[in-house]
Amino acid sequence: MFAKKMPNIPNDPSLHVPLPEGQPVLRTVPMPADTNYAGDIFGGWIMSQVDMAGSIPAIRRARGRVATVAVNSFVFKQPVFVGDLVSFYADIVKIGHTSITINVAVYAQRGVREGGEEICIKVTEAVLTYVAIDANRRPRAVPQE
Ligand SMILES: CC(C)(COP(=O)(O)OP(=O)(O)OC[C@H]1O[C@@H](n2cnc3c(N)ncnc32)[C@H](O)[C@@H]1OP(=O)(O)O)[C@@H](O)C(=O)NCCC(=O)NCCS
Repeated sequence: MFAKKMPNIPNDPSLHVPLPEGQPVLRTVPMPADTNYAGDIFGGWIMSQVDMAGSIPAIRRARGRVATVAVNSFVFKQPVFVGDLVSFYADIVKIGHTSITINVAVYAQRGVREGGEEICIKVTEAVLTYVAIDANRRPRAVPQE
């Protein structure tokens, strides 16, 4: 029978935070296939989810296609583990002529699946810039609201 030992998950109460108000743009649970050689969630998995999450408000505000032009900052504050319920909150922080800059904050809720007390930790914070593009992949002006 498959009985993989769960990793020893750190639990520092000083890191516990409430989830932000409002709805996340994305919520998902990482799987064993998303881990690195040490068994923790691979940073590249989180980066791709953050890019996807940030693109959601960017596409809505641009009313169409966007391309990621820059990852301005990306901080992995705490590790993410298999089975965490990971929520991505994305907010527009700046609108330029063709660009939209988004802050993405990522929270992990854990303990749910093991029947323990649910805890929530802020795991990642990132700022990305997207460019509104046309059918020829050239920048286009972000439409007026
Ligand atoms: C996105 C892309 C179409 C922009 O084309 P470009 O000719 O470089 O565009 P521009 O130089 O006119 O810049 C467009 C906007 O991006 C902003 N921008 C460009 N480089 C930036 C950077 N490093 N950081 C932040 N913003 C940047 C510009 O300030 C400008 O914003 P504004 O119009 O609001 O003032 C082009 O760079 C591209 O196709 N890149 C690849 C995108 C991609 O494949 N992303 C997925 C990753 S594999």
